[in-house]
Amino acid sequence: MKETVKIFDTTLRDGEQSPGVALTGQEKLAIAEQLSRLGVDIIEAGFPQASEGDFAAVRNIASALTGPTIAALARCNEIDIARAAQALEPADRPRIHVFIATSPIHMRSKLRMSPTEVLDRIGETVRLARTYCDDVEFSAEDATRSDIDFLSQVAQVAAGAGAGTINLPDTVGYTTPAEYRALVETIRQAVADPGVTLSVHCHNDLGLAVANTLAGIEAGCRQVEVAVNGIGERAGNAALEEVVMALTARADVLACGHHVDTREIFRASQLVSRLTGMSIQFNKAIVGRNAFRHESGIHQDGMLKDRNTYEILSPESIGLGSTVLVLGKHSGRHALRQRLDELGLTVTTEQLDHIQQRIKALAEEKTAINDQDLEAIWQGEVGASTTGSNSELLSWQVTTGTQVKPTAHVVIRCQDSIREDSGSGDGPVHALFQALIRAFDQPQVELTNYQLVPVSPGEGGLATVRVEVVAQEQDFSGQATDSDVLRASAFALHQALSRVAERITKGVVA
Ligand code: KIV
Ligand code: ZN
Repeated sequence: MKETVKIFDTTLRDGEQSPGVALTGQEKLAIAEQLSRLGVDIIEAGFPQASEGDFAAVRNIASALTGPTIAALARCNEIDIARAAQALEPADRPRIHVFIATSPIHMRSKLRMSPTEVLDRIGETVRLARTYCDDVEFSAEDATRSDIDFLSQVAQVAAGAGAGTINLPDTVGYTTPAEYRALVETIRQAVADPGVTLSVHCHNDLGLAVANTLAGIEAGCRQVEVAVNGIGERAGNAALEEVVMALTARADVLACGHHVDTREIFRASQLVSRLTGMSIQFNKAIVGRNAFRHESGIHQDGMLKDRNTYEILSPESIGLGSTVLVLGKHSGRHALRQRLDELGLTVTTEQLDHIQQRIKALAEEKTAINDQDLEAIWQGEVGASTTGSNSELLSWQVTTGTQVKPTAHVVIRCQDSIREDSGSGDGPVHALFQALIRAFDQPQVELTNYQLVPVSPGEGGLATVRVEVVAQEQDFSGQATDSDVLRASAFALHQALSRVAERITKGVVA
């Protein structure tokens, strides 16, 4: 019988460590729900000891999802492990994932521990993690630059202490496929126990993350650690969609199955891109805009005669282009509710009203409203409801052009008072930001990131604006989707600043 590779998704942990990415708890939950629809086996939901936000997100995801295993990361120490266990309390299937570095440079310069001390620490902490949880994964950070005999001992100690999964990360994206295959084979010989799963976790610094991951599978790894769109530290992690579609399209050579519903891939990719603000390069494998487009005449001719001439995967297999909503200005609540249900997007009656109004307005400008449009509108509506009711953007106005300095005027409700103010800037977004900062009376806030991500192509199409601000060394984000980019900018900035205001009210940011 064909073996199965477990898909361990780390979009919400390693992916969230991508520079410039700061997801809210609600956004993390939306991604986790989509990962669950995608059918991944394990969701690494965060690193609870890293921050209160991470702790709350892991706990929230652990409470909300029943299908996949929920993993939480912890360093090999008592505090991290206890915190991870606490965050995972509500999970049906919890996993504690402990890690410590095993390469000479990390042990010497970072940990300042001897190899013997590291071995002892691994044994103690894996045993400790097992007292909280039956499912424990151990990662040897920087495994690919570790001494192979020492790494074998590490794996034996971790397995002996009760780790059911041993992960061999290429933390700095340094290895090559042949080298990685040899490393996995050596560790498999050192830990012959078939009850212990070997796992691959590859970074993409040399652009080899997916190739190395596939080499790991060929050498016997039965868990792959991947992230949607390949996001993650520095150049990112192996991309989930590339590894899964390679397993699907090249089952003849890789000979391993998986549990992913590939038709949910495109939706997962779009959601992660929109919420992280990390756009997808046009020629990105599987999910890039051009991945299924054929430009040259010879290719088009071949495609018309037989799609298999130039297409090894169908767009439908990743869920692209299957459904175009027939919702428009005349469509009713019932059809809208049904499509939201089919997409797994829950709404209150009030949210349904708002979404219907937005769909009707959009249908004035755009004839084909697709699932991405609907999901982006839903996200905006649900995101807005988590902003709290302490503030509302009542109106905004911008004057801009070649002969005038861009200026903006805004009116907001803040707690129970109505405030208005104006600002000017280098461009209309800057002017809006200045006006909002003055209205909120938050001169200390700094705008650190502004991104515009198109939701769907075509005239009148939607775009999502995502902004990040810093107040007293804390990151806050806001986002909004609209066919008018200035309107989306105004609401995204307002959302970020009202989140800062909410924290100030609670006394978290002075
Ligand atoms: O890259 C790495 O080594 C990691 C570990 C924490 C698994 O992300
Ligand atoms: Zn990593």
